[in-house]
Amino acid sequence: MYGREELAELIRTKWAGRSLHYFDELGSTNVQADLEAGNGVQEGTLVVADMQTAGLGRRGRSWHSPAGTNIYFTLILRPSCMPDQASGITLVMALAVAEAIGESCGVRAQIKWPNDVVVNGKKVCGILTQMNVDGGAIRHVVVGVGVNAGEQDFPPEIAATATSLQVESGRKLSRASLVAAIMRFFEEAYESFMRDGGLAPVRERYESLLVNRGRAVIVLDPKGEYKGIARGINERGELLVEREDGSISNVYAGEVSVRGVYGYT
Ligand code: BTN
Repeated sequence: MYGREELAELIRTKWAGRSLHYFDELGSTNVQADLEAGNGVQEGTLVVADMQTAGLGRRGRSWHSPAGTNIYFTLILRPSCMPDQASGITLVMALAVAEAIGESCGVRAQIKWPNDVVVNGKKVCGILTQMNVDGGAIRHVVVGVGVNAGEQDFPPEIAATATSLQVESGRKLSRASLVAAIMRFFEEAYESFMRDGGLAPVRERYESLLVNRGRAVIVLDPKGEYKGIARGINERGELLVEREDGSISNVYAGEVSVRGVYGYT
């Protein structure tokens, strides 16, 4: 079973996910969360759906969201930081998801910078963070997370790069337990991110899970593509890429994407 009662019983955080809005079906949990945030619900409210009919991905793509098998949720935040710092929240969520999977599922999850979570080189989780800004100040942020938990058959257009936790671990997992673990890891990492004003407190943990680290990557910068070796991140969450001449470029996630020279990661 997957539903409100089971989730409410397992989530034992101080604030992340303690207020829970569960739906059997939604268009998109991000759209619902943005609406609820606009209506003034408290920080940490979690919108969860068993399926989505119009799941949103990054860069205008859709997110495959069938019923009864995967995880789709959005967490509402009201951070007291400037909009340009808020991109770090997405990296904090990627870290929380990867750590929670590592603890709960018996597989090693890694992060493809900035915020895809991968297992054995294939994507198991995507994160879509959307910000609502008014006159230069953040009103609220919604962090949407989709985890391929039990999916066995993927549509042909994503079959080469997507996988699920069940496929990789060979065992069925409790969606509610994983959501609860993600809330626990996120709350702790987010609090240290907000206290510090950046990713310095979680940088080492993030880098230890960074699949791109030490690998050749192509930076798809609109001003011109270039190759380099990914070395880690800085406290703003930018990827540090060592160029062929030995200089380090800071890659900002909003403008460019990065892919492996030898495939998706
Ligand atoms: C990506 O393209 O990698 C990001 C995908 C984010 C999908 C999740 S599923 C829950 C939440 N609601 C949405 O409509 N999208 C996010």
